[in-house]
Amino acid sequence: MKKHLLYLLTFLACGIHPIQAQKFEELARTPQMGWNSWNKFSGNINEELIKEVADAMVSTGLRDAGYIYLNLDDCWHGERDSLGFIQCDSKRFPSGIKALADYVHSRGLKLGIYSDAGRKTCAGRPGSFGHEYQDAMQYAKWGIDYLKYDWCDSEDINPRGAYSLMSNALRATGRPILFSMCEWGQSKPWTWAANIAHSWRTTGDIYNAFDGTLDHGNGFVQQGVLQILDMQHGLRRYAGPGHWNDPDMLEVGNGQTVNEDRAHFTMWCMLAAPLILGNDVRNMTEETRNILLNKEVIAVNQDTLGVQGLRFGRIGQLEIWFKPLADGDWAFCILNRGTIPTTYTIDWQQFNFTDEEVSKRSTNFDTIDYQIYDLWKHKYIGTTHKQTQKKPQVEIPGRDVILYRLSPKK
Ligand code: GLA
Repeated sequence: MKKHLLYLLTFLACGIHPIQAQKFEELARTPQMGWNSWNKFSGNINEELIKEVADAMVSTGLRDAGYIYLNLDDCWHGERDSLGFIQCDSKRFPSGIKALADYVHSRGLKLGIYSDAGRKTCAGRPGSFGHEYQDAMQYAKWGIDYLKYDWCDSEDINPRGAYSLMSNALRATGRPILFSMCEWGQSKPWTWAANIAHSWRTTGDIYNAFDGTLDHGNGFVQQGVLQILDMQHGLRRYAGPGHWNDPDMLEVGNGQTVNEDRAHFTMWCMLAAPLILGNDVRNMTEETRNILLNKEVIAVNQDTLGVQGLRFGRIGQLEIWFKPLADGDWAFCILNRGTIPTTYTIDWQQFNFTDEEVSKRSTNFDTIDYQIYDLWKHKYIGTTHKQTQKKPQVEIPGRDVILYRLSPKK
């Protein structure tokens, strides 16, 4: 009897350890920033294009603004070799991925790659199913720094198992590879993936529209900016340094109006979302550049407190958002979802609240006088001091935002 008890205790002590994925903890302490080929080029990628994008990321200042990951999406793949190791498409990437990684690294950037937990990627290229450790090893040998891991052809696969497996495989290579899950939020990865990945997609695919839904009729439905924004509701408690909610890549610069692009970018910053550009950075208008390179707005996204913003309230088509920042500041945003320019009278004292859900930080417009800095106009516009005369009125153009940084006056 005693012997059995001893066996049982030994078994409990040594035998049952939950399989814990061990991602690289030091990566993505603030949301990752970079570029990805899918939104603009879909599967039409090749090494010339990627090298030109690398050059443009340097010459435009994007790299120096923090966009350091250059990520290949679907369709870089060729076949597996006789030992099962994945090869690139040699027509599109004749010099191979290692040479491409060397080029990208020589520009001070990092190279990302794309695979899928199923047997095939969404565009029908070889997935990693059954080859997870081989693929991770191959990526590490090539010098890859980032893996986006998709979820097509996965009907018979357990998501947690599949993503833990690849996370462990990446870890085993010893190379710090950022792991970006693309499971579209189907199994609520925010509840289980914080130790497994650095970010997880919360929704299906975005498309280039501010407000709309694109139903392809075969179960594939894409959403516009506002639809994706609304789907982030309730998720902020799950995000933080090293593990971010990912509302999908940016469509800024792909043809929406400058107001819409500004609103889209601002909301992704308020959400502490990964900022992965999806436009042709070789040909950007001045307006697109001014949005993507606004360092003060990027600083809201990259704030080291790492707290996702919250929707404080809605008034008609307007939404009021706050995001606590590391140094006692707050980002304050009004989003106009509608197409009609709207005037709003700000009464700061109505915005006294405590973020009970995540940061436990409080605003107090009765006792603290905040300086107001307009992050899109790049200027101080006053303070929140209790107004004796008229309360300030702002006009928010249709499908646009105002974005302020509030700093307690010293
Ligand atoms: C899925 C992903 C997209 C993109 C495509 C590539 O739809 O969600 O982001 O990677 O696959 O085929």
